[in-house]
Amino acid sequence: MALSCAGNILKDNMMRCVPIASRASSWWSGVEMGPPDAILGVTEAFKKDSNPQKMNLGVGAYRSDEGKPFVLPSVRKAEEIMMAANHDKEYLPITGLADFTKAAAALAFGENSEAISNKLNITSQAISGTGALRVGANFLQRYFPDNKQVFLPTPSWGNHTPIFTHAGLQLGAYRYYDKNTCGFDKAGCLEDISKIPEGSVILLHACAHNPTGVDPKPEDWKELSQLVKSKKLFPFFDMAYQGFASGDIDRDAQAVRQFLKDGHQIMLAQSFSKNMGLYGERAGAFTIVCESEEEMKRVESQVKITIRPLYSNPPIHGARIAATILNTPDLRTQWLGDVKFMADRIINMRKMLADNLKKEGSTHDWSHVTDQIGMFCFTGLTPEQVERITKEFSVYLTKDGRISVAGISSANNSYLAHAIHQVTK
Ligand code: LMR
Repeated sequence: MALSCAGNILKDNMMRCVPIASRASSWWSGVEMGPPDAILGVTEAFKKDSNPQKMNLGVGAYRSDEGKPFVLPSVRKAEEIMMAANHDKEYLPITGLADFTKAAAALAFGENSEAISNKLNITSQAISGTGALRVGANFLQRYFPDNKQVFLPTPSWGNHTPIFTHAGLQLGAYRYYDKNTCGFDKAGCLEDISKIPEGSVILLHACAHNPTGVDPKPEDWKELSQLVKSKKLFPFFDMAYQGFASGDIDRDAQAVRQFLKDGHQIMLAQSFSKNMGLYGERAGAFTIVCESEEEMKRVESQVKITIRPLYSNPPIHGARIAATILNTPDLRTQWLGDVKFMADRIINMRKMLADNLKKEGSTHDWSHVTDQIGMFCFTGLTPEQVERITKEFSVYLTKDGRISVAGISSANNSYLAHAIHQVTK
């Protein structure tokens, strides 16, 4: 017989009537306070600081030389074209805008890619790089045949660990960065990779390694490709900075193209946040290269099944901007110029910072400031020095000593050099 409870009384899970007051006051009273995000939390702290000289070198977001967010002129023009075209706002297919995904794959693989002409790649739109990595992680969790262990370089982007662990994968690590030289630890990297169990996944940063700004040389990539192949590892490339490392989109895609040339079936996460400045648009792509067109079709069906319950289908605006740029020859040329302009400003800021440190009288070797490439410089500042520079100079950066060089301007470069010198002398 169904038991009903009177007034201020409810049924507990054993169907007993208990007063409401005996339950905890909220469903969430047991939720513990979590730490702020290691990267985005820095911006939150920066915003609270009232010092007019404050600098946010935490998150990797390009700023103009006036220190302002920068919308690429090619992006503005693409939006004008889109406005005039009077597009509708219908749902995209689960795998996104085909004009965008085709162009994204060609940008990464090269116009004459055999994988593309043989229809071996399934390329799906993704919620930028993070979303592409997460779809990849979920896909690996469900379908990767072997040990489901993903090996990350030490260090790696702060979000890699939660992306893979939240998807239920196990993590491993391989040496990558040499603290003594502030450069690539080639010997350590090769040694560790040679010990990774066969049938594991290896995560590789395609260019402009985040957080270190240290990339293997083209000949190192050849060696890495051979080793990854002989160890039967599965390469998952994260390419968030194509064009940002050197200013040349083809040069920055060299590692991905080398692996394809060597016959690897790769997975690839692409972001257009940085190279098109589409941070808030979440435009990205996720690719799996298969053995045959028939296999690609099967894999595509499961990529769709993976995405549908996550977010149904992707947002349209950013993908349309990127597709308009990549598929309109004049605009594409203009965009290549915009990318080069941003990369050159970053390279300039590096040189200026190294010079200013010298002018400050710093006797440390700062050659890594100009040797490292891409958006970030791994300064070598210790957590204590990071704490001091933030407290005393309102210079905000991640605890690992990474600075976003793209956040420095000509006007505050010497202030930064002064601050770094004060905490490192
Ligand atoms: C960064 O590393 O700062 C960027 O990739 C932004 C982010 O989402 O962390």
